[in-house]
Amino acid sequence: MDPQNRIATPPCAVPGAPSPVAATGRPLRWGVAATGGIAAKVTGDLALLEDAVLHAVSSRSADRAAVFAERFGFTAGYGDDGGTAGYQRLMDDPDVDVVYVATPHGQHFEVSRAALDAGKHVLVEKSFTINAAEALELAQLAAERGLFLMEAVWTRFLPSINRAWDLIHSGVLGEIRWVQADLGFTAPDDRTSRLWDPAAGGGALLDLTVYPLTWALGSLGFPASVSAVGVLSSDGVDEQNALMLRYDSGAYAQLSSSFIASCPAQATVSGSKGWLKTGGKLHDPTELTIAVDGEEPRVERFEQVGAAYTYELREVTRCIQEGLRESPTMPLDDTLATLRLFDDVRAQLGVRYANDDA
Ligand SMILES: NC(=O)c1ccc[n+]([C@@H]2O[C@H](COP(=O)([O-])OP(=O)(O)OC[C@H]3O[C@@H](n4cnc5c(N)ncnc54)[C@H](OP(=O)(O)O)[C@@H]3O)[C@@H](O)[C@H]2O)c1
Repeated sequence: MDPQNRIATPPCAVPGAPSPVAATGRPLRWGVAATGGIAAKVTGDLALLEDAVLHAVSSRSADRAAVFAERFGFTAGYGDDGGTAGYQRLMDDPDVDVVYVATPHGQHFEVSRAALDAGKHVLVEKSFTINAAEALELAQLAAERGLFLMEAVWTRFLPSINRAWDLIHSGVLGEIRWVQADLGFTAPDDRTSRLWDPAAGGGALLDLTVYPLTWALGSLGFPASVSAVGVLSSDGVDEQNALMLRYDSGAYAQLSSSFIASCPAQATVSGSKGWLKTGGKLHDPTELTIAVDGEEPRVERFEQVGAAYTYELREVTRCIQEGLRESPTMPLDDTLATLRLFDDVRAQLGVRYANDDA
């Protein structure tokens, strides 16, 4: 991989950077769409940022919006009201600058489009959308409106991951020949949960594979081709999948994601002169073991601020404060290329969602 094409290090992950909670400019007023698991985790980190104002939250339920607003100190909470969705009421609030979309992925397109239509900057959870066509439409809308838009691949903003990219592209491991990365757990057998529900964009590919893929992209870039195997549920979403990414250099990456197997959640990058392996979890590594041929393996350890979402939140804040429309670390072209790759994988696995026919 040409080091020029490597994932750009965000200022918050440069060695010696100030804490990601330290202000970088004028305060931004945030809206949060949804009150589920990740909405609560990320909002907890958002509350740590010196230049974040927790302005409003939306839910389908007025009660849940009120409870969430009270818990984190938002000024306003919007639930569905008559014919108006709670999220639309959030978008109609003129005091919201930027919206964090934390609904299931099946609803990312609809909610994010409403935010862009209302003139808000947007941070959207992964998977950004269900397919590349939806992603392209959002990217075009953001460009037309001159608004910031980014997929919340928080892993790309961590100091530990950026240290891994530095090591990999320094040549200390030689030429990178293969990457192996996995993520999975045995998901509860509740077929109504978003993990399994086709209407929510259920399945391991859209929920998990972005993290193993991040290690392939950071080490080798986008592949020349992909081949996939997987097992589908009776509702037609993938219970697990394995991808083989091939590169023109002869390198390859093997990625596994599963809702039916407990996995170590690790990444290994192997080169002609040595290897690197994660400790902690591959989406949030707290350790890197580096083994250069002929030397003792050594371990580097990393501290994190908050629940580790502070770094992506700092980057979104900085970009908006500086008038950027995209983060150089998580550009929309990478999101589009990822969804094109996932469209290809889904065609191979036979997974289709209602959004594909919309
Ligand atoms: N970055 C990360 O580390 C991370 C971790 C987990 C998940 N995620 C991503 O975050 C998203 C949400 O995951 P989650 O684990 O937070 O799910 P979750 O706990 O099920 O929460 C999703 C929330 O979205 C709202 N919602 C549900 N169905 C909806 C619908 N049909 N229309 C509009 N809103 C709806 C609900 O809030 P109300 O009831 O208040 O409307 C629900 O609480 C997914 O895209 C997932 O991939 C990211």
